[in-house]
Amino acid sequence: MNAASRTKLNQTPEWTALAKHREELGAPQLRELFARQPERGTAYTLRVGDLHLDYSKHLVTDETLRLLRELAAATGVAELRDAMFRGEKINTTEDRAVLHTALRAPRDAVVEVDGENVVPAVHAVLDKMASFADQVRSGQWTGHTGKPVKNIVNIGIGGSDLGPAMAYEVLRSFTDRDLTLRFVSNVDGADLHEAVRDLDPAETLFVIASKTFTTIETITNATSARDWLLTELKAGQDAVAKHFVALSTNAEEVEEFGIDTANMFEFWDWVGGRYSFDSAIGLSLMVAIGPDRFREMLDGFHLVDEHFRTAPAEENAPLLLGLLGIWYGNFFDAQSHAVLPYSHYLSKFTAYLQQLDMESNGKSVDREGDRVEWQTGPVVWGTPGTNGQHAYYQLIHQGTKLIPADFIGFAAPVHDLLPGLIAQHDLLMANFFAQTQALAFGKTPEEVRAEGVPEELVPHKTFRGNHPTTTILADKLTPSVLGQLIALYEHKVFVQGAVWNIDSFDQWGVELGKVLAKKIEPLLTGDGGADAGQLDSSTAALVDAYRTLRGR
Ligand code: F6P
Repeated sequence: MNAASRTKLNQTPEWTALAKHREELGAPQLRELFARQPERGTAYTLRVGDLHLDYSKHLVTDETLRLLRELAAATGVAELRDAMFRGEKINTTEDRAVLHTALRAPRDAVVEVDGENVVPAVHAVLDKMASFADQVRSGQWTGHTGKPVKNIVNIGIGGSDLGPAMAYEVLRSFTDRDLTLRFVSNVDGADLHEAVRDLDPAETLFVIASKTFTTIETITNATSARDWLLTELKAGQDAVAKHFVALSTNAEEVEEFGIDTANMFEFWDWVGGRYSFDSAIGLSLMVAIGPDRFREMLDGFHLVDEHFRTAPAEENAPLLLGLLGIWYGNFFDAQSHAVLPYSHYLSKFTAYLQQLDMESNGKSVDREGDRVEWQTGPVVWGTPGTNGQHAYYQLIHQGTKLIPADFIGFAAPVHDLLPGLIAQHDLLMANFFAQTQALAFGKTPEEVRAEGVPEELVPHKTFRGNHPTTTILADKLTPSVLGQLIALYEHKVFVQGAVWNIDSFDQWGVELGKVLAKKIEPLLTGDGGADAGQLDSSTAALVDAYRTLRGR
């Protein structure tokens, strides 16, 4: 679709039709929707690879879904999707292709950027990663003193940290337990301090992950790590080659830092940071789980890529999830979206999705640079169940806000747990099913009264219900299933950005804070003669208070 000739989203007939439909629906009740359509629990389901998706507990009718699909068709979601898969430069503000899907394409696939097939280069890097991972895992890769590597410290931030750190937690039961893997991201020196204080530097390898290799937090931590290593080993610069590898698109900066580019694992500017963990950025994870498991994960991603690319609109899971989010965000004024995994291994999954979703769709101007007149990306939040049930679920059940939620659960633990613990899985999953049931159907005042509850407590014990949820159920949380889940969310975010007509692949909003921090730092240290007079009165007073506390 030609962006310039595009009708503003809220002026399209499809948007107007949805607004009218929303008005006509009034306050749709899930109890009524299920009563009217008893087979809803099986009819409103989809299967993608290993993922079973139940969307029956949503405030939608067949008509709602039809109108939402029409909105997607009118806003050119499929055309933009195809352009993305073809390698067109759909990230217009950075003039870049968006091709994370090429990272998991099979060896014989052809994906062209500027007329060049990028798949051979993708697989060449994967092969180099696999060979390195095998060397570390087998003890062949030795440090400066000849000792094999036992510890890996991944230094990166944002997309160069959240993906591998999350996936390492998810796939912990597949990891080589002889290796210690830690992730350092925060420029707060405490992060690196805690990561290395009990490690033997002779057995430690630092993986410096940074697409640009200019991110101040990462370069600062990497420099401190190098100082620590060389000091502890009483070694010269030549020790760096055995203890540092880089994951980056920027060979020049890697070399400048002192890392041999032979120890650099490359990726490309058509891989966005938050879409990069299945690129070289996944190296630490690959070392932990081995190349074969890593490939299984990539195949899981690819399966959902193909589904998204080819499935008809009625059966297209990322399209459906994207449109449901639009339904609540734009027509019910929902401000946030909860992702609630019932798996301890998914403890960092929602944090990963926060960057994926909020950095992608946290935009307020459209592709033409005009301020949007509709809501865009939601606040994404959540932690694993059942813990959240004892913390914030109260607000979801009985608060005043509408919070659509995704519940993600598994039929069985991925590996045998310690004897006795396997039985706990049924309890976990009983909670999983109970919560979506309670959220959807609640408890009426009549039901509360029938239990003999005194009248003055009836309003307090009533559950309004009608809280929409999607349930995603799979057999086990394998590497492939993890890949499938992530690709599902990546494409969901894509769909929403396409409908809202925003560039989901840039992130200019993170720049201002970086620039200001650079100006403020010399004011804190007193170096460089920076002028405190440039600051607003609040920031100036805070800086002053800080300096006093630091005795400066
Ligand atoms: O500041 C935001 C950001 O640019 C993210 O988009 C990115 O994932 C992160 O910083 C890290 O960037 P890099 O990999 O270049 O160090």
